[in-house]
Amino acid sequence: MSRRNTLFFSFVALAFSVLSVIQVGKFLAQQAGIVVGTEFGEPIQGITAKEFELFRLGLEDFNEVETPDEGLGPVFNGRSCAECHSIPRIGGSSTITEVRGGIRKEDGSFEEYPGGTVMQMFSIPRHETQFTIPPEMNVIARRKSLPLFGNGLVETVPDAVLIALEDPEDLNGDGISVRAHRVHDKASDRIRIGRFGWKAQQATLLAFGAEAYRDEMGITNDLFPEEACPGGNCEKVHFFNVLPGLQDIRNPTTGLRGIDDFENFMRLLGPPPRGPINEEVVQGEKLFGAMGCASCHVPSLVTGASSVQALSFKRFFPYGDFLLHDIGTGDGIGQGDAKPEEIRTPPLWGVRLRAPFLHDGRASTLQGAIEMHAGEALGSRTRSDKLSGSGKRALLAFLGSL
Ligand code: HEC
Ligand code: HEC
Repeated sequence: MSRRNTLFFSFVALAFSVLSVIQVGKFLAQQAGIVVGTEFGEPIQGITAKEFELFRLGLEDFNEVETPDEGLGPVFNGRSCAECHSIPRIGGSSTITEVRGGIRKEDGSFEEYPGGTVMQMFSIPRHETQFTIPPEMNVIARRKSLPLFGNGLVETVPDAVLIALEDPEDLNGDGISVRAHRVHDKASDRIRIGRFGWKAQQATLLAFGAEAYRDEMGITNDLFPEEACPGGNCEKVHFFNVLPGLQDIRNPTTGLRGIDDFENFMRLLGPPPRGPINEEVVQGEKLFGAMGCASCHVPSLVTGASSVQALSFKRFFPYGDFLLHDIGTGDGIGQGDAKPEEIRTPPLWGVRLRAPFLHDGRASTLQGAIEMHAGEALGSRTRSDKLSGSGKRALLAFLGSL
């Protein structure tokens, strides 16, 4: 060995003794652009002090309980974002389901009722603006709130990556037709590939948060400046509106709007931590691939460029394609270009803490959720039905580790 090589190897040995093995592992993962999960509710690893401050301000606003003189209502579903996004930590999901409704016409097509599909459960004052579901509304669906962990990564996936997964005509003959939802993104005023919501109805966190601020809390903002009017009855809503006009104004100290705070918090919120991985879990993941679950629950995706270094060009592991499928569980609501029978594949990261399962919580257990897969997922479910007892246990152990 030459003198230079000897020197090199003694340097490497020294480096290893200085850094612990764990630190080296983390260092390599970062070099490869692989994102490491954080504790639930913590920011993504590797952010700057300035980004941490934006995360903290965002979290504060996300938690803030609003009152009517700050713009809450007249109709609303919750008083803070955190009310429906707090399990197992702020930014998570909840067992709360919301009601959406509309009309299925005789030819099977879907028609929106005036005022949109979201039904607000509360109002100020209670009896005056409260909406009664009319008898002609023959589709009434429930949707669970969704967890927000790791969504900054999901947002940073370029449209092209999702488009590359599309196969609407099932040309590869696997029985699965994958459709991307093309939506008008109010944040950029461009047509983008939707990825957020059970129907992949929004492409950006800014637009989703702004719509939620208006639809869930009744707070008008730059992106959604009109009050929500259930049944299209805006006269009554305007009459009882304590604070007319634009309600989400810039904070004079931070210069940020509420919708900016929500965006910052959600963008920087870290991905869920993986549970313990043992031999059974490894076996289960192999079966997950072999059964064809991974065709829709795509294990990993990559992000593109982002102004946030921690989100830029990273590989992460959501176990979802964020695209539209008909697996026979559809909620009957047509939304944008998403058909009544279509639902977005939800990412499975963090699923171990998300019971009950599926968009309306109809499955109490993970096994139950698998058994309710039909339509495009029939082949995959049938293969999983045929697994031996130990195979089924391994598959569930894998899901329980996500
Ligand atoms: C009353 C309950 C409720 C409140 C309050 C609420 N949400 Fe939600 N949230 C939901 C439900 C239900 C969904 C699923 C909606 C759907 O797909 O139709 C959801 C989904 C989301 C998503 C999509 C996540 C994903 O991974 O696809 C985002 C982002 C979000 N909410 C942000 C917010 C923000 C920001 C606020 C506060 C301004 C807020 N939510 C307030 C119930 C709520
Ligand atoms: C054709 C695409 C497709 C295939 C194949 C598929 N899934 Fe799904 N999966 C979905 C969709 C879409 C949903 C959401 C359905 C709903 O909520 O109505 C879902 C939901 C789930 C959920 C519940 C997640 C939650 O947040 O509630 C679990 C667990 C799950 N799938 C596991 C599996 C397993 C295990 C397999 C393989 C045996 C599998 N899936 C195969 C598309 C698929």
